[in-house]
Amino acid sequence: MKTIFAMWIGLVIVGFTNSVLADDSANNYAQVSSDGRAAVATVNPYATQIAIDVIARGGNAIDAAIAAAFTLGVVDGHNSGIGGGCFVLVRLADGRIFAIDGREMAPAAASRDMFVVDGKADPELSRTGALAIGIPGSVAAFDKLQKLGGKLTFREVIFPAADLAEKGFVISPALAERISATADNLKKFPASAAIYLDKDNNPRSAFSSLQQKDLAATYRAIAKQGPDYFYRGDFAKKTGRWMAANGGLVTHKDFANYQVKMRKPIVSEFAGYTLYGFPPPSSGGVHVAQILNILEQFDLDNLAPAERYHLIAEAMKFAFADRAHWLGDSDFTKVPLSIADKRYAQTIAKKISLDKTTPNITAGNPDIGIQHVMNKHTTHIAAADMDGNWVAITSTVNTSFGSKVVIPGTGVVLNNQMDDFSAQVGAANAFGLVGSDANAIAPRKRPLSSMSPTLVFKNGEPVMALGAAGGPTIISQVVQTLLYSLNDSMPVEKAMAQARIHQQWNPNLLFVEAAMPADIQQALQKKGHELKIWPSMGASQAIQLRDGKLIPVAEPRVILQNQRKN
Ligand code: GLY
Repeated sequence: MKTIFAMWIGLVIVGFTNSVLADDSANNYAQVSSDGRAAVATVNPYATQIAIDVIARGGNAIDAAIAAAFTLGVVDGHNSGIGGGCFVLVRLADGRIFAIDGREMAPAAASRDMFVVDGKADPELSRTGALAIGIPGSVAAFDKLQKLGGKLTFREVIFPAADLAEKGFVISPALAERISATADNLKKFPASAAIYLDKDNNPRSAFSSLQQKDLAATYRAIAKQGPDYFYRGDFAKKTGRWMAANGGLVTHKDFANYQVKMRKPIVSEFAGYTLYGFPPPSSGGVHVAQILNILEQFDLDNLAPAERYHLIAEAMKFAFADRAHWLGDSDFTKVPLSIADKRYAQTIAKKISLDKTTPNITAGNPDIGIQHVMNKHTTHIAAADMDGNWVAITSTVNTSFGSKVVIPGTGVVLNNQMDDFSAQVGAANAFGLVGSDANAIAPRKRPLSSMSPTLVFKNGEPVMALGAAGGPTIISQVVQTLLYSLNDSMPVEKAMAQARIHQQWNPNLLFVEAAMPADIQQALQKKGHELKIWPSMGASQAIQLRDGKLIPVAEPRVILQNQRKN
């Protein structure tokens, strides 16, 4: 089996001979360009390699990140692709910083109780099939990003991914595992089954080759005609027709009405660094800042390990209680951004005991008189160059293969982001998250997200880009990476390798990676935490500027997952 894995990586090498490839597999996920002036980290070696090739052809970090994103839609379509949405945080070489919101929008015909059947939210409707689908935003967001700071054309950054879709690629163990786990639902949609199942209707296996000619054609049409092909042209029309015939609400007009939004980043300070996070409709920026603000109220450097994990868990619990109550699309609901204010964190810190868990937490009142008050899904791409372009893109179709729907003839997996709305007060979404009216469904509203692309600055200069995949654990992963790398001065690769925890208030469980030492687990239980052990949690990607060099880091857990199948 070792040979087969070598072949998988080998095929990556053979396919892209014009690039320098490092000699170990981890370095295929996170690479530095041959001149050392740019770096990319993604969850897949094909995507990283195409991004690096784009840099070799004169592109910058922005071109590279977009090329990687289109490639991930080919090789990692269960996590992200143009049928989904994304948030982009970018710092341009001239110093300007933008937050580009490419989150899906609910169709105009969506309604608050559209998933409620006989008085109860039906999760099947919001997760699988036509009704689960929001209007995808990634194509529009990537186009906007390209225009803001790319050096190449949209066409030049899409074509390599189109070629790969046409020629085929070798299925990774991670993708094969997801195909197998989702096969029963994929079978319900013939165009999806035709891609991911073999001629006998069995899941395609790891290390077999997958060609996607329809997807290649869709990419090429976007490359040639621009986003109009997707939002006003054949793609929108085909999708509208399929929806009408299959009980969906999305129309071609919904596509024409899709809008990318430019948002104001959430800016906070931690351990002498300035953090830029993504604002609503993401909850990521607000809660990453909130949790770090709570943590810094304590003497972090002198806590015993179990006390520290306990504190992180408590801070997460308060933050997720606020998330469930306050957060939603800020175009539709007033989100109190003072949740990310240090004075609010001080009020929460006073409620936290280092000895035991706080029972019965409810959402706090962040209106403190401040003027401005008020298992892994998804993927994160980090790219940076020495000209000063830094990109953090988190992109998703939501749960594995999104709605499982591929509109015949397009090759594009469509999202099930409608499940990120609160279908009903108290009804949990696929991640167990509950919400309030703030995140109720409404026409053209964007569902609340946990995606947390983050840029870190020291003395005004960018030093890190990071983000993660994994539903609400995205927030926890980003917090922990920032805590260990910024407060504890660990190199980011070491920070990412620490055992992770996650507490999201509901369910009131402390998720702990199995790598956590047993004595710390026991100490946490003594403090009142109910532990749930997960084998491994999340998928983060980061780039750090260290000693004048760009250091890209891909998630060690994902690399291990692929290697374990050798
Ligand atoms: N679909 C997962 C998220 O946006 O948080």
